[in-house]
Amino acid sequence: MDAKEICGPLLGPTLGREIVGLDLATLDDDGFAALASAFADNPVLVLRMQELAAPDLARFARRFGHIRPGVDPKYRHAEAPEISFLSNVAADGGVDTFGVTRAAAWHYDGSFAEKPPILAMLYGVEIPAVGGGTLFADMYQAYETLPPALKARVEGLETVNHFGLGPEGRDYFDGLTPERWSEYRPVRRPLVMRHRLSGRPYLEFCMIHTAGFVGMSHRDSHALLAELAEHATAAECAYYHRWRPGDVVIWDEHATMHRNAADFPPDQRRIMLRAMVEAA
Ligand code: SIN
Repeated sequence: MDAKEICGPLLGPTLGREIVGLDLATLDDDGFAALASAFADNPVLVLRMQELAAPDLARFARRFGHIRPGVDPKYRHAEAPEISFLSNVAADGGVDTFGVTRAAAWHYDGSFAEKPPILAMLYGVEIPAVGGGTLFADMYQAYETLPPALKARVEGLETVNHFGLGPEGRDYFDGLTPERWSEYRPVRRPLVMRHRLSGRPYLEFCMIHTAGFVGMSHRDSHALLAELAEHATAAECAYYHRWRPGDVVIWDEHATMHRNAADFPPDQRRIMLRAMVEAA
């Protein structure tokens, strides 16, 4: 089996490759090799009609590397603590508002960490009838289509990433205790990176945790981040994933940014399982 045999249609302008004919609960080594090869060329993969319990998702995610548990223990799954759940349903059955609005700014996971995860995946369990999508932006495309003057301006820039200090990080920063805050340090990395799998250049920044650029004022940094985000997330680069129960979406944390579209009625249940994977 090779990648060509399992690659179905592209669901968005450049992202969202549907993968066909694989059952993740029983995937053999051959199937996994084909999937990994498809992933190297397609930073967002979509698999439909999967039937997975949390331990199955953990077993599948572990084939890519180490699972990094979610930051908040409250959302860790009882049967597989390295798997988190996203949920807008509170313990008393009411609305968990954090689950409605969380992750609604463009980001990639763990951008504040020295070594961000390489990929993450979500498994749709309960999906609202209206909206409830996830948006993905293609950061290869974002770099390639930068207007020449802007491309020249960003060449050689380094980002400074610090928990919650990005233009849209206020809620994350405000939610931290002083003890948790003291765990984080600023992390510098090039804005234009080369991808470890494809060798292609892409833009790496995040609107929640990228505080600015080395040697640039706060005001100019935030203006440039806004300009880059507007370009990177324009409709022609972005894919809106409309969820169905049983979907698994796997995304490359470096070649994409993503966000909760936050476009669903809060009282419609939205529950998903999530794994974040770091390099082995
Ligand atoms: C996430 O950022 O991991 C979640 C995205 C979503 O809720 O759609």
